[in-house]
Amino acid sequence: MEDTARPSGEAHSRLELTTVFGGSGFLGRRIVKHLLDHGTAVRAASRHSTRARHEQVHGGSFSAVKADILDQEQVAAAVSGASTVINAVSLYTEHGDVTFERIHVEAALRLAAAARDAGAVRYIQISGIGSNPRSASSYIRARGQGEEAVAAVFPNAIIVRPAVMTGSDDAFLTTIVRLLRILPAYPLFGSGDTRLQPAFVEDVAEAIARLALGASDPEARLFEFGGPRVYSYRELVEEISRLLGVRVRLMPVPFLAWHALAIVAELVPGAPLTRNQVELMRIDNVAERCGFRELGIEPHDIDVVVQAIREKSRP
Ligand SMILES: NC(=O)c1ccc[n+]([C@@H]2O[C@H](COP(=O)([O-])OP(=O)(O)OC[C@H]3O[C@@H](n4cnc5c(N)ncnc54)[C@H](OP(=O)(O)O)[C@@H]3O)[C@@H](O)[C@H]2O)c1
Repeated sequence: MEDTARPSGEAHSRLELTTVFGGSGFLGRRIVKHLLDHGTAVRAASRHSTRARHEQVHGGSFSAVKADILDQEQVAAAVSGASTVINAVSLYTEHGDVTFERIHVEAALRLAAAARDAGAVRYIQISGIGSNPRSASSYIRARGQGEEAVAAVFPNAIIVRPAVMTGSDDAFLTTIVRLLRILPAYPLFGSGDTRLQPAFVEDVAEAIARLALGASDPEARLFEFGGPRVYSYRELVEEISRLLGVRVRLMPVPFLAWHALAIVAELVPGAPLTRNQVELMRIDNVAERCGFRELGIEPHDIDVVVQAIREKSRP
C-alpha cells in the first residue's frame, strides 16, 4: 500500500515533519530510521514505497509517498507541510534522458526550491566527497554543480558529503569480501594508492538525523563524513583479508582497463561496476575535517561491517 497523492493522516505538527527523498535507499532508509528513533515524524518519498516495514516498527509516525523527483507535482505534494527536506536520491548510471545533470543538478534545484516555497526551514543535500563543479567527470561535476544550485535557491541549505559508505548490505565492502573469497589474485584500482576513509552508513545516517534536528552550528553549511581511519585502497584490501583470515595476492590493474570494463559492465542491469565509480577511485576520498566529531558521534571502523558481512554469509 502506498500513497500516490498528497499524504494524509499525519497527526504531527509541521515543525516535526521531515521529508526524506530517496527514503527507501541504502542511506535514505537509515536516515528515516534514525529520525524515527529521535521521535520525529518522517515522510519517505521515492518511486517505490516502503511503507509497511517502517510502520510495523515505528507505528504511525512514518508515512511514505510515491514521488519521482523529476515530477514537479509529486515533488510539491511530497514536501508539503515539511519543516525539513532531505535529498538522498542517487543516480549512479545514466540511462536515456535520465542524466547526472537532470537528477543531481536540475532536480536537486527544483526540490530545494519546492521545499523553500512550502515553507521548510531546513534543506539537506546529500552529495559526496570530491564533488567539484569544474571536474572533467560528468558525475563529479554534476555533484558539485548540484551543491551550488541548491545553495542558490535555499541559502541555508546544508551540504553533506559522505565518504564511501559501508554497511552489511553495501555495494563496496561486500564486493571486496566476495572477490577476496573467490579470486586467486585481487585486482587493484591502478596501483592501489588512492586514499579512502570508509564511513559506516549508520554513523552517517545518525549524523544527518542530528543535522535535520538542528544539532549543528547554525552557520555551518558543509559537513564531510569520513570514518576513523584513512586507508590506501591497497591497505584496505589487506586489512579486510586480515579480518577474514584469507591470504591475498594483489594485482595492480591500470585505470584505462577498469574504464573499458565499466563501459561493458554498465550494459548489465544493476551494473556491478560503473564509470563514475572508476573515476571516483582515481581521486582521494578523504574528509577535510571530521564532521562526526562536530556532532558528537564517534565513528566506527570497517571491522564491525566486515564482521556483519561474515555473519550474513555464514552457511
Ligand atoms: N553509497 C555510498 O557509498 C555513497 C557515498 C557517498 C555519497 N553517496 C550519496 O548518498 C546518496 C544516497 O545514496 P545511496 O547509496 O543510498 O543510493 P541508493 O541506495 O541507490 O538509493 C537511492 C534512493 O533514491 C530513490 N530514487 C532514485 N531515483 C529517484 C527518482 N527519480 N525520484 C525519487 N526517488 C528516486 C530510490 O528509490 P526508488 O528507486 O524507489 O525511486 C532510493 O530510495 C546519493 O546522493 C549518493 O550519491 C553515497
